[in-house]
Amino acid sequence: MRVLGIETSCDETAAAVVERDEAGAGTILSNIVLSQVDEHAAFGGVVPEIAARAHVEALDDIVAAALRDADLKLGDVDAIAATAGPGLVGGLIVGLMTAKALAAATGKPLLPVNHLEGHALTARLTDGVAFPYLLLLVSGGHTQLVLVRGVGDYQRWGTTIDDALGEAFDKTAKLIGLPFPGGPNVERAAEAGNAKRFAFPRPLKGEQRLDFSFSGLKTAVRQAATAIAPLSGQDRADISASFQRAIVDTLDDRVGRALLRFRELYADAAEPALVVAGGVAANTAVRNGLTTLAARHGFRFIAPPMRLCGDNAAMIAWAAAERLACGLVDDDPMRFRPRSRW
Ligand code: KG4
Ligand code: ZN
Repeated sequence: MRVLGIETSCDETAAAVVERDEAGAGTILSNIVLSQVDEHAAFGGVVPEIAARAHVEALDDIVAAALRDADLKLGDVDAIAATAGPGLVGGLIVGLMTAKALAAATGKPLLPVNHLEGHALTARLTDGVAFPYLLLLVSGGHTQLVLVRGVGDYQRWGTTIDDALGEAFDKTAKLIGLPFPGGPNVERAAEAGNAKRFAFPRPLKGEQRLDFSFSGLKTAVRQAATAIAPLSGQDRADISASFQRAIVDTLDDRVGRALLRFRELYADAAEPALVVAGGVAANTAVRNGLTTLAARHGFRFIAPPMRLCGDNAAMIAWAAAERLACGLVDDDPMRFRPRSRW
């Protein structure tokens, strides 16, 4: 089964073709991602109106490139999928309407896909991980601990009560004068920094709940930056390193407790898995921290390759293929409306 996927929920215009065989193994036949970073950089963040217009301009070419790379014609794919939410509604409309048009023209089934489900199932495409597994989803819009029991069968164990983790990286970057996008720039700056210079808080550490909070950390960064302004390059590096250390410690605490809960639920699981997904999963310090944590608890640790951490359409095509394979499809997908919240 071959699925064409489209992703336009934020600032990447993406299309991909993914194949799923009878045994459930996945292959990426093509994966095109056009980042709009340069168009938004001057504004210090993603501007929804600019994003939607850029998707309109690029999407036809990106879809054509994905088919060309896969050596296929539109008529050769078995289904067409698009992110239908959550995300910026202008971009969602562009992607979903394009998919509807392609489905109407070809008579192929249309699958509206939840962006988070795309992130959640990526590890099955790349590593064939079996259900159930524990997922840490850390992106620009979401921070969640999720028990993944099956396709469409998710139980949220924890979420952020304020900022998302990627957002915390982005805001920290802005506060200390690092350019957009913040996450990768904070990571780069941290390499030359002293992580012990600033004692930033570890919000909610030690509590029983599995939720996250990052706004207090952001406030602490602002106070530290204000107190020593103007900032030198070393100051920026030290703040970045101290911030990243606080993040890694916080994840260690929260995810560690979730692993214990998973163990209680699935005491006889032979090789339980911890999966990380979303843009922040590209962060090496975060990956290393989780690798150590998983090993300590006897879990297999799975992180997608870097190019599949951030937003892409391969994960959307794959989630659709997984849904098709188990018959989890909408009755009337052509009437499906984009959902900015989902
Ligand atoms: O999953 P994603 O591409 O888009 C959303 O669905 O939100 O995640 C984007 C987020 C941004 O906040 C970005 O700063 C963050 O992921 N990010 C990183 C790194 N690369 C991307 N954060 C920390 N370190 C990185 N290397
Ligand atoms: Zn995402």
